[in-house]
Amino acid sequence: MSEQVDAGEVLAEATSDASLRRTEARSVEIEEQIAKDASQFRMLTGDRPTGHLHIGHYFGSLANRVRLQDAGIETFVVIADYQVITDRDVTGPIRERVLSLVTDYLAVGLDPARTTIFSHSSVPALNQLLLPFLALVTDSELRRNPTVKTELEATGDRPMSGLLLTYPVHQAADILFCKANLVPVGKDQLPHLEQTRVIARRFDERFGRAVPDQPVFPRAEALLSRGGSLILGMDGTKMSKSKGNTIELRMTADETAKIIKRAVTDSERFITYDPVGRPEVANLLTLAGLCTDRDPVAIAEEIGNGGGGGLKKLLTEAMNEKFAPIRARRAELEADPGFLHGVLAEGNARANEVADATLDDVRAAMGMVYDF
Ligand code: TRP
Repeated sequence: MSEQVDAGEVLAEATSDASLRRTEARSVEIEEQIAKDASQFRMLTGDRPTGHLHIGHYFGSLANRVRLQDAGIETFVVIADYQVITDRDVTGPIRERVLSLVTDYLAVGLDPARTTIFSHSSVPALNQLLLPFLALVTDSELRRNPTVKTELEATGDRPMSGLLLTYPVHQAADILFCKANLVPVGKDQLPHLEQTRVIARRFDERFGRAVPDQPVFPRAEALLSRGGSLILGMDGTKMSKSKGNTIELRMTADETAKIIKRAVTDSERFITYDPVGRPEVANLLTLAGLCTDRDPVAIAEEIGNGGGGGLKKLLTEAMNEKFAPIRARRAELEADPGFLHGVLAEGNARANEVADATLDDVRAAMGMVYDF
């Protein structure tokens, strides 16, 4: 059987139940290793600058990144600007969005002294990894990648662009340019990570090493976010920037109150926590629980006859209290664009150093060193 067929199966496997359970179990082990010695890990994660970050991002990934950074893991965060045009034609107000991401990152507690924040397009050597990596994949395995398929479906009738097709490959370059061995992700990104591991392995098998006994690239592992339950938008559907059902980190307390007031609940007055039967109410309770570090069931019992109104009042207060310090810090940062530009410039300089060193290893492994 050809290697391509194997890899396709590996990728499909990455989304099977059994494989998901293995990844979950492995994530628990990794957490234990982090607690013992965080210095053996280097983590990379990132976002596409397609809009402002919201509370779904906060509870789903940002808070976790800060926790891992604070546990002592060296952290890289890519602002994946080239990825903006995987599923749309134009980049939009990209400068503002990139700067808004930097602002959000710092406001939630990412620390530029410990975390390298950089923009994808600013690191040429990272992007050059794409060429050797593209030689290591086939179009059929990319077409079978579940994440690529889902993204393509989400774009409606758009034809597949080369950039969308190679999404897993440029994402592999994002991860491997800094030799990250840890990628905190949601389940939807697992096929990308599996493809990244396949690329690292094939690079070693086909192109060799810069120094004996040490593959150029590590086998990066996924770290599934803890309790990464999906938070819904205020209309009870998936929270998404494009649906306008989000609460953004940068919003004011008043804006937050207005959005929660409009949130969809149901006609039953007595509040109970029932994610299957009453998903919208359960979602608001989950959020209240996350904001206050409490069990949603206990919050539901406390509200009881207070109804949807009582629930929304409690959630508004909880959320505004939770995000007040982050918002205050965000406002301070926004008032100092020079500082934000400096953080990005330093991050980009550091990412370039790291990427240049990796590209040197790649050239050495491939025999492409011509300083005769
Ligand atoms: N594709 C990711 C998203 O849409 C963002 C991203 C870009 C990323 N490069 C990455 C995530 C590398 C993890 C690792 O959210």
